[in-house]
Amino acid sequence: MLVAPVLLLLLVPFPPSSGAQLPNQGQAKDLPIATNGQPFPWDRMRLPKTISPLHYDLTIHPNLTTLDFTGVARIELDVHEDTSIIILHAKQMQISNVLLLAPEGIRPLHVLEYPHFHQLALLSDSVLTKGRKYEVQLEFAANLSDSYHGFYKSSYRTSSGEVRVMASTQFEATFARAAFPCFDEPAFKANFTIRIIREPRHIAISNMPKVKTVELPGGLLEDHFDTTIKMSTYLVAYIVSDFLSVSKTTQHGVKISVYAVPEKINQTAYALDAAVKLLDFYDNYYDIPYQLPKHDLAAIPDFQAGAMENWGLSTYRETGLLFDPDRSSASDKLGITKVIAHELAHQWFGNLVTMEWWNDLWLKEGFAKFMEYISLDISYPELHVDDFFLGKCFDAMEVDSLSSSHPVSTPVENPMQIQEMFDDVSYDKGACILNMLRDFLTPEAFEIGIIQYLKRYSYQNTVSSHLWESLTNVSDVSVGTVVILCLSFVPLINRSALDVRAIMDTWTLQEGFPLVTVEVRGREVRLSQERYLKTDDPSLTEGFLWQIPLTYMTSTSNTIQRFLLKTKTDILYLPEEVDWVKFNVDMSGYYMVHYAGEGWNSIIRLLQHNHTALSGNDRANLIHNVFQLVSIGKVRLDTALELSLYLSRETEIMAVTQGFGELVPLYKLMEKRDMAALENQMKGYIVDLFRGLIDRQEWTDSGSVSERVLRSYLLLFACVRNYAPCVTKATQLFNKWKDSDGTLSLPVDITMAVFVIGARTPEGWDFLFEKYRHSMQMSVKSRMKTAMTVTSLQDKKWLFPLASYGEVMKTQDLPGVVVSVSKNPHGYKLAWDFLRANWHTLIKKFDLGSSTISHMVTQVTNQYSTREMLDEVRSFFGSLTEETGSEMRCIQQTYETIEDNIRWMDTNLPLLQAWLNKRSHKVAHEDL
Ligand code: BES
Ligand code: ZN
Repeated sequence: MLVAPVLLLLLVPFPPSSGAQLPNQGQAKDLPIATNGQPFPWDRMRLPKTISPLHYDLTIHPNLTTLDFTGVARIELDVHEDTSIIILHAKQMQISNVLLLAPEGIRPLHVLEYPHFHQLALLSDSVLTKGRKYEVQLEFAANLSDSYHGFYKSSYRTSSGEVRVMASTQFEATFARAAFPCFDEPAFKANFTIRIIREPRHIAISNMPKVKTVELPGGLLEDHFDTTIKMSTYLVAYIVSDFLSVSKTTQHGVKISVYAVPEKINQTAYALDAAVKLLDFYDNYYDIPYQLPKHDLAAIPDFQAGAMENWGLSTYRETGLLFDPDRSSASDKLGITKVIAHELAHQWFGNLVTMEWWNDLWLKEGFAKFMEYISLDISYPELHVDDFFLGKCFDAMEVDSLSSSHPVSTPVENPMQIQEMFDDVSYDKGACILNMLRDFLTPEAFEIGIIQYLKRYSYQNTVSSHLWESLTNVSDVSVGTVVILCLSFVPLINRSALDVRAIMDTWTLQEGFPLVTVEVRGREVRLSQERYLKTDDPSLTEGFLWQIPLTYMTSTSNTIQRFLLKTKTDILYLPEEVDWVKFNVDMSGYYMVHYAGEGWNSIIRLLQHNHTALSGNDRANLIHNVFQLVSIGKVRLDTALELSLYLSRETEIMAVTQGFGELVPLYKLMEKRDMAALENQMKGYIVDLFRGLIDRQEWTDSGSVSERVLRSYLLLFACVRNYAPCVTKATQLFNKWKDSDGTLSLPVDITMAVFVIGARTPEGWDFLFEKYRHSMQMSVKSRMKTAMTVTSLQDKKWLFPLASYGEVMKTQDLPGVVVSVSKNPHGYKLAWDFLRANWHTLIKKFDLGSSTISHMVTQVTNQYSTREMLDEVRSFFGSLTEETGSEMRCIQQTYETIEDNIRWMDTNLPLLQAWLNKRSHKVAHEDL
């Protein structure tokens, strides 16, 4: 039954009033109960719309010695309907001296608290009348949070061993309410004027530039920041620290500064230049100037996520921002550039135009992820970011092929559900369907459409259909000749009938993605679509239908042909008979393709004889599709393995890594079972397949970014797999490095391989550990940490990081280490035991529903393939309560993944064994 929200006036001294707060004494018994035992007059998690904030005056005083803070919030209100109740958010803070500043004078307000929904009710003894201006003032006090959200404590150790404390904010998604009382929903946009009280030894920064500093009695200083433009609460930020900064100005006159702890300020130059370049790029691309006079980027020593886009003050993990030209790797450079591009893209997508509610989180996260690639492609062509986009679509498909997936736009209400939206579906699927639409509409039309969208909805909130309308308008009439011309390359699309919303609703409102089956018979190409789902319950695939922008090319024409498949089945006619067809050209579409009949065989022949007839992306796409089709029984494992044979001639990064991505998990499953013989045969096959490519790798830092990333990947794999030439070389280099007491500068891209080999001996491990403790280079530290988790030493060496987190290793790095240990054949049980034993501490620290927790849950368990392990996993997660996470989606994902692994092993192990035996026979014969 749909119950109307109850905004009741129940307290005798306060008279009833009209509008949204209709008294309904009859329902009083169902009302929530406030902390003081009185009924709480609002029973919804979402705030009522009777009142909205216009302006916040915030004064915040953190005490970095006592680790708490006090503050005063004065909020100007806009009353939309007469009411005498104000409902707003506050979480875990003491509230006092609450006043109403009305045109008639100042009056105290009665306060009720309902912690379960993080809500306060402020009750007035007179009606606040629609259209009149009111203010409320609240004083508050709380501890600095010990987690990574709200107004939280961070600390770091200097090279002389001194521990320094600072305080920083992370409000997205629902944590502004833990720092000050506020209307903590993205649609309640307001202006903020912030003042921070601090000691003279610290500095304070916030969203806006500082306008003045006032000396307070007692020697404290109060920094006053300029008033922000209209924005959501989750974007407010302030930091009190002893950071230093470096600055530059963009071509458009925006002052960019990068802040870091003093001893790391010499690692900020790269980020500063990147931010200047990328902000200028967005200014031009969006055709809307960046809205603030400055943008600061701050590297925070304790940070849970990767980065956060607070307006005018984005915050980052140190590894996400700090770059040392001599010690950071090619993938570090790529990662830092991408993360900055992402957070700066949000300054428009998210900050200027914000989703109405978290159900449409993808409107900012999908876009920011997508813009990482668009902006780097143009501003940093040398990084060849295009080589990596595909990986996002593969990642998205992995979760989206489970029945526990969810539509891109999904209803959510409570903070845990909101946190869960920050997943591969919102980010990666979001980016991939945008990429598909861009490819379909043409880049030019797409760009015009998104600029229209940003301009039309600046300072407002949107839902997905606003975006589709803006893009439909472009594809209608109001576009320049360029777009019309480009669209005229789309022969099978009737432009006037192009309904972007109808197409895109099929991708955002239903979960999963289609599998398109293609069967060529002469000139006829039969097409059909169904949902790709990794489950044995066929009923779950019924009722799904997508509008699929198909693309294809054939053996006789590499011109991209297009066809919008709207129905379950359809037929295409080719101008002539062909040897092969390749659909989903360059994988610009978010769907899989099954080549039925002789289709896969013709593709295997093509790859074996002339693989460069297809692009690297197409090859990666085929590898992905063929192995994924094995999982659902559409293709036999032998066929996929036959296709994989061509990889011995592959050199393109995405195809190589996708080859690894499909083959390595097979032996990872076996490592967690007792089947060493087959496991070793499989390992041998993969090493053989890539031996030529590994042998060709130089042990230097030369080459393009993709070549360098590929090199470090291959050498790491080769060393881990004990490939003798690699181990010998890495051992030599490690010993040299160790003999120089770590001063020898190794080529950066090979250090991971070298450290992994070094960490195999107790002395090497200890040496790495000592260097890890004292290093100030974040990327070097991160490689050492990973290498230490990969060791096979049995004497608890790699237990140590788990046991000592918070001391030697920062707690923020713990989840990554747990996952890494779980991939180690000698460590996976330990990681699983650790996760179970520390569950309550972990969810308290990292929060229920966070991607940190989900990632740990799915990654620690996704290589199990036995019923015993499934039972064990079920028994642990089954024992959780709602408060301790039983409702989390990642638990369902985990069950489904293990079930899928069990099915895969049951079906395919004999086939794999037979194929590998046959192959080794063949190879042995060829050798004779
Ligand atoms: N808005 C997010 C930060 C965030 C993540 C807030 C989860 C609340 C919950 C930010 O823009 C973001 O997406 N950060 C990414 C890094 C990015 C490069 C993909 C992250 O933290 O993983
Ligand atoms: Zn983001």
